[in-house]
Amino acid sequence: MSTPLTSQEISELTARYTYGTWRFQKNWKPLHITDAEGCYFIDGNGKKYLDFSAQLMCVNLGHKNKAVIEAIEQQARKLPFIAPGFATDVRAEVSKALLEVLPKGLEKFFFTTSGTEANEAAFKIARMVTGKTKIIARYRSYHGSTMGSIAATGDPRRWAMEPAGKIPGVIFGPEVNCYDCPIGHTYPECDVACADYLGHMIVNESDVAAVILEPVVGTNGVLVPPKEYMPRLRKICDEHNVLLIADEVMSGWGRTGKWFAVDHWDVKPDILVTAKGITTAYMPLGLCATSAKIASYFDDHFFSHGHTYEAHPLTLAPALAAISEMKRLGLVERSAELGDYMGKKLNELKTKHPSIGDVRGLGLFWGVELVKNRKTKKYFNTMSDKVNGVPTMVDKICAELMKNGVFLVSWVSHFVLAPPLIITKDEIDFGIQALDNALVMADNEVEV
Ligand SMILES: Cc1ncc(COP(=O)(O)O)c(C=O)c1O
Repeated sequence: MSTPLTSQEISELTARYTYGTWRFQKNWKPLHITDAEGCYFIDGNGKKYLDFSAQLMCVNLGHKNKAVIEAIEQQARKLPFIAPGFATDVRAEVSKALLEVLPKGLEKFFFTTSGTEANEAAFKIARMVTGKTKIIARYRSYHGSTMGSIAATGDPRRWAMEPAGKIPGVIFGPEVNCYDCPIGHTYPECDVACADYLGHMIVNESDVAAVILEPVVGTNGVLVPPKEYMPRLRKICDEHNVLLIADEVMSGWGRTGKWFAVDHWDVKPDILVTAKGITTAYMPLGLCATSAKIASYFDDHFFSHGHTYEAHPLTLAPALAAISEMKRLGLVERSAELGDYMGKKLNELKTKHPSIGDVRGLGLFWGVELVKNRKTKKYFNTMSDKVNGVPTMVDKICAELMKNGVFLVSWVSHFVLAPPLIITKDEIDFGIQALDNALVMADNEVEV
């Protein structure tokens, strides 16, 4: 019998033979994780970490939910795989469960194995149905890593693919960011000109098939639009016969205190894309949900899309269990309730730390933006720093938090707080206390 590998060997082998995503490979020392339970995960030395971002904002039910694990086990015994051309119990049951929780009017589903692929499906479907080509996206966005979804990604992860490594026909408009408005306006005097500008783009571009957006922007800042924005955009799209695609890969599944973020404004997208929390991330599943009108188009037109693993039974079984667990545990309501608590605590931090420029969020989904100078809104780092491997202030703070047993996701100059929806008030307090202590690093570098 061979001797088991040490944690250090496991980390070294992982780094030597496999790619670390979205990073320089040199100096990558991935932490060896051996176990996880509830809101915590544990490393090879037995050290416990509070998962304050639910990994990549996806483990919404927390780690090792028993019902979801059992559903996977049972499905593996019953029917682990059958080609997508066949009907299965689980596919029919998930479809019925989705109809209950998705915004009304989304009635036909295409299942993928990631959010990325679900967006690819959305683009192809939008182009086939409308016969038009262009997709309008926004700069502060992430829609996935493949050629279509990276083309629609506004953030700097797209830069390395410019210009050849992405599909043509995607153009960018301004995001809604009331803290640091890209067109220099102030809400409410602006009357959400950023939404109207997307209408201006549609008219001037012509040939626009769809507008894609994250109703609450995730990794790029937890940007919550003012109440007029989504209904205005819905109206603009209707007026110009353009499809509205809501990318709820991150904002769905109770994250914002509603089943889906669009529910906050009662807006019905033509296509809703989701993934992550759909299976609480235990199995790779994405969903592209389309309106009845889109569905009927394909009754008499060739649906030119598919994957070997479409509607894979092992990915659908945990979705059914996750929806049922969300309901049993009342997690959508819990997200709204505890989200208010978390927001209050974070706003208290803002009064204490001069390096916090903005705190914003909905439900258990919060962004904390750091600035060197509150008056000028000068950030500690730039997007170029991020893709050039410069250690950012938020990265340094996250490293300090890890030392103190808290895992938190950051991007260029903000943190994304998105714990499992089962988190308790005590656990929120613990995470926020750790952030409170670590923020001193940024406070010390604030311009006076
Ligand atoms: C809003 C949004 N869309 C799409 C994706 C891509 O999903 P995946 O990583 O499952 O391919 C992500 C991933 O973080 C996301 O946050």
